[in-house]
Amino acid sequence: MRLDKFLSTTLGITRKEAGKLLKNKQIEVNGEIVKNGSLKVTDDCDVEFNGRSLSLSGPRYFMLNKPEGFVCSHVDDYNPTVFVLFDEVSPEKLHVAGRLDGDTTGLVLLTDDGQWSHRITSPRHECEKVYYVELADPLPEETVQTFAEGVQLRGEKDLTRPAKLEILNEREAVITISEGKYHQVKRMFAAVGNKVVGLHREQVGSIELDEDLEPGEYRPLTDEEIAYFLK
Ligand code: URA
Repeated sequence: MRLDKFLSTTLGITRKEAGKLLKNKQIEVNGEIVKNGSLKVTDDCDVEFNGRSLSLSGPRYFMLNKPEGFVCSHVDDYNPTVFVLFDEVSPEKLHVAGRLDGDTTGLVLLTDDGQWSHRITSPRHECEKVYYVELADPLPEETVQTFAEGVQLRGEKDLTRPAKLEILNEREAVITISEGKYHQVKRMFAAVGNKVVGLHREQVGSIELDEDLEPGEYRPLTDEEIAYFLK
């Protein structure tokens, strides 16, 4: 396959846009900058875009340390979306695997692989999410038991699934939930008369937020991290 065709297929861009990447010396083949789009890409070619290896079959997977004030939807009239933080070709082709509220920070997974994200978001898979929580009022010890038994959220038919609560001190805790109802953590604490004033996601399944990522930074997932939700 011609290199410009290969680039447009793997990056989801037009041939003209691929031509620009080549002209701007952003493409390397087997470690050498290549500007000629007619070069034939064969199986033994390692094609890189800005240092990132491209493969024809490759869906994309990223983790983002979401800063406060960014929303997880593609379009918003008032707030910036997480997609503006991505210096990638066609970020609009990515979607969020499990949204966070605008004022929640921390781990967001993004991909263009719908089956993969379904394993994270589908209630059937009971994927565990871990959040660090700051509260307005002191947290009584009995909330651990209440959350383990499930709480009644306003407007919901069933109790929440058992959640694990670890109290760090009077107003800080870590909660693990295995479902993802709208504003779930905030509503759970509201159900026991408290108020969440800070919420940060630390982990989704076995994928932990990389502590080297500053708020607003992202990185591709490792093969091991991707494999966790392929099982
Ligand atoms: N629960 C919430 O209330 N908000 C989030 O952003 C995530 C979980």
